[in-house]
Amino acid sequence: MLIHYKRKIDYSNIPRHVAIIMDGNGRWAKRRGLPRIEGHRRGAETIERCMDTAIELGINVVSLYAFSTENWSRPKEEINGLWNLLESFFEKKLNTIIEKGVQVRHSGSLKELPVNVQRIITDAVEKSKNNSRIILNFCLNYGGRHEIIHAVNEWLQKKPSQELSLTPEIFESYLYTRGLPDVDLLIRTSGEYRISNFLLWQIAYAELVFMKVLWPDFNEKHLYQAIYEYQHRERRFGGL
Ligand code: IPE
Ligand code: IPE
Ligand code: MG
Repeated sequence: MLIHYKRKIDYSNIPRHVAIIMDGNGRWAKRRGLPRIEGHRRGAETIERCMDTAIELGINVVSLYAFSTENWSRPKEEINGLWNLLESFFEKKLNTIIEKGVQVRHSGSLKELPVNVQRIITDAVEKSKNNSRIILNFCLNYGGRHEIIHAVNEWLQKKPSQELSLTPEIFESYLYTRGLPDVDLLIRTSGEYRISNFLLWQIAYAELVFMKVLWPDFNEKHLYQAIYEYQHRERRFGGL
């Protein structure tokens, strides 16, 4: 199956920016009678494999939705479990990530996060900033609406006095994703058909691919399959 997809991919038409809503960790665990956090742990393992495949495909930017501004409404125990996981993920993987040429970026608000999580994210961003093989835009405590409001407030505070109104270009330079291309392909796993406040501005013309697979089971084949699907869409951008 995988060989089949690999052969059918058009390597001259790879999406530059792929965004992924990594959903279904809880259900994956539930189906196995395991605690939800076990699903998150397996989900974290999927990330490395997914980045390897993205590098192989020549994708420039992968945005991963790891924790939304709405996820604070979950039980404290699950949230704390997620921070612990994140810490051990970066402790274990940061060196490999850097060696592979991945540049880590963060989108979202850091200040509400536990200080050790803030430190680990800042550290990953700082240590990988000169890498250029692929960008991993890690969306943590991220919400599309929050990002838009945050950008407008930043502009109001920082704008030169002669700048009287926002243009799309100025606005984008205040987003967490500043400098990144628009999303070409948005993938959501776990069979849910919604955006859940992810990259609202950046997905304006993205192709949307919804897949049944639960995030911990997402593998190389699924990414190839999503790219294949993307390549069979006709992107018109409002034209003919
Ligand atoms: C996605 O998996 C990961 C996070 C939101 C942190 P879920 O935890 O939402 O898994 P389901 O949707 O309950 O299966
Ligand atoms: C979206 O998944 C957020 C992340 C994957 C981090 P959710 O599971 O939180 O979304 P809803 O609640 O089903 O919309
Ligand atoms: Mg979910």
